[in-house]
Amino acid sequence: MEILKQDIPQYSLRLFSSIIEVQPAAKDMFSFLRDSDEIPQNNPKLKAHAAKVFKLTCESAIQLRKKGGAVIDETTLKHLGSVHLKNGVLEPHFQMVKEALLRTIKEAVGDKWSEDMGSAWGEAYDQLAAAINAEMKQEP
Ligand code: HEM
Repeated sequence: MEILKQDIPQYSLRLFSSIIEVQPAAKDMFSFLRDSDEIPQNNPKLKAHAAKVFKLTCESAIQLRKKGGAVIDETTLKHLGSVHLKNGVLEPHFQMVKEALLRTIKEAVGDKWSEDMGSAWGEAYDQLAAAINAEMKQEP
């Protein structure tokens, strides 16, 4: 976990590049990619988003291991719900990002990968995604 944290910029970039490889249409969701032909990998905002997802999932995993409980406070959660809703993010996208995240971690840790590690990360992500999704459904 700690090793990954230090390498967030590198791996998170890989994360979102792999999303766009699998799902080119996802590019249009990001306002800053929509109108540009630039290679997404070079986009600082995409990097920033990927790093946020990674960091929050990390924190969620640590939290789960300790005792559970929320990683993001209610205000932040409300904000995230509305940002994603506004940008047209739907439930299936969260699944897509989850798969990309797990792929990325698997690649990053190499030989140290285990099923347990995969489910720990998966669970941490699910927790976060469910919280954001629940908030999105509550938006008027
Ligand atoms: C924005 C986190 C999943 C697309 C953001 C922001 C955060 C965040 C912290 C910045 C909010 C702000 O502007 O203050 C997360 C987390 C996710 C997740 C923790 C998963 C658990 C997704 C997914 C998609 C997505 C699945 C779509 C594929 C976006 C877009 C923005 C955004 C388009 C707005 C970016 C911009 O225009 O600047 N997200 N996100 N996110 N997210 Fe996510």
